[in-house]
Formats: sequence, C-alpha cells, structure tokens
Amino acid sequence: MEVVIVPDADAAGELIAGAMAGLLARRPDALLGVATGSTPLPVYRALAARVRAGGVDVSRARVCQLDEYVGLPAGHPESYRSTVLREVVAPLGLTEESFLGPDGEADDLPAACADYDRALAEAGGVDLQLLGIGSDGHIGFNEPCSSLASRTRIKTLTRRTREDNSRFFGSVDEVPQHVITQGIGTILDARHVVLLATGAGKAEAVALAVEGPLAASVPASALQLHPHATVVVDEAAAAGLARADYFRDTYAAKPKWQGL
Ligand code: F6R
Repeated sequence: MEVVIVPDADAAGELIAGAMAGLLARRPDALLGVATGSTPLPVYRALAARVRAGGVDVSRARVCQLDEYVGLPAGHPESYRSTVLREVVAPLGLTEESFLGPDGEADDLPAACADYDRALAEAGGVDLQLLGIGSDGHIGFNEPCSSLASRTRIKTLTRRTREDNSRFFGSVDEVPQHVITQGIGTILDARHVVLLATGAGKAEAVALAVEGPLAASVPASALQLHPHATVVVDEAAAAGLARADYFRDTYAAKPKWQGL
C-alpha cells in the first residue's frame, strides 16, 4: 500500500485527476469507479478542468457507481445515480450510455446486486476505483463487520453513517436505512484502488485502515490485501499515522515516471 500525504484537498484532487488522466491516455476506454460524498469532489473538479483545457480525451471513458441508496424515488437529487450524473458524467461531457450503476429501485434487489457484479465483469472490470472512507472505516457502504470477501449486496447503514450523511437530507430520519454496495471483494477486483481521505474527522479511520490489523471491523483495512492500493490523505487526515515521515520520504524519493 502506498500512502501519499498532500497539503490539502485541492492538491489531492489534482494528484488523483492526474492519475486518471494518465490512465485514460494509456487506455482511452478505461472504466473509472467513482465514489460519492464530499471527499472526491475536488478530484472530479480537477479532472473536468483538464478535460475543458483539452488535456484529456474522455470521449471513450466509462464510469461506474460504487453504491446506491435503496428506495429513493427515481431522480431523487441525493440518489447516488443522480449525484454521479451531476458531479461526474455531466461535467466530463459523458453520456448516460457510458455509465453503469446498480438499480436501487428494483423489485428484486438481490437479483439487481448480482446483475451489477456481472455487468462490471462483462465491462472488463474496473480500472481505477476511487474510494472515500467513512468515519467508522467503511468503504463503499460496507459497514464494520462486513465480510472482506463480500460481493455487491444489500446492507443496512449504521446510525453513525446515517448521521454523517444527514447533511445531504433534511434530517437523519430521511437518510435511507438500506443500500446496495459493491462488496469488499468486488472493490478489490479493481486493478487500482485509490482511497482519498481529507480532514481531521477521518484521521482515526485512516490510521486504523493503514497501520492497524486487517479486520472486518475496519473495512478499509481490506486495502492491505490489494496489490495496487494508493491512499491519498491531506495533513489533517494523516495526523494519526505513526509512519507519516516514512510515507513522506518514500513519496519524495519516488521516480516521477512511476506515477501513482
Ligand atoms: C460514497 C461512499 C462512502 C463515502 C464515505 C465518505 O459513495 O461509498 O463510502 O465515500 O461515506 O463520505 P464523505 O466523503 O462524504 O465523507
């Protein structure tokens, strides 16, 4: 696992957008797995700016969703489908045809979950999966004690996650209890996994995920199993890392051609 400590969220956005741009230059039809929430927004802004400046060709790029609330009405502005269309697909100038996501309104939700795993595999797999991290260590909506081998399925959000996400809704009671999320096993199938965390509220979860034991109680620790996992953190989110100096030295000495 590589840990990159950057000064702030904008620097993180530039760094990860640069990695995505490099990937698209090598593989123009790359499948980018995108997270929602507040943390990845600087990445999407930075990538869209590169596209507008003519530095990245996204005409064949594809985007897929990490997770979705269950039961929100079609077109609800806080559904993750709406969010990805608004924050990623539209600013990049992509079409809905280039976008894959699970059906959170399906009558048969288990079948919709299995269909989504199949669709990701048939699309050739995710090339780069961007992740945030919950204050409780979740990735996607794999809450603590999720199976580290899990596939896309229905999960129940913890009270803490619903409270964290209530800022997007009128109140905590309006945050759906149930979600569809790529499983941890599904996430680990991506060829490159990039976890971004910013702000002091993520410091404890980041330290446990990076330096703690591999444990289902900290779902993000599953990234320790991935052969190409990059954790990008700002100074505040890095505050709990005992090896921060080592991570800084390592990145400073890294040959530029290696990229992320
Ligand atoms: C969202 C997702 C979640 C968030 C996490 C952090 O698609 O999968 O794991 O990444 O809850 O959310 P923010 O970035 O809003 O703190």
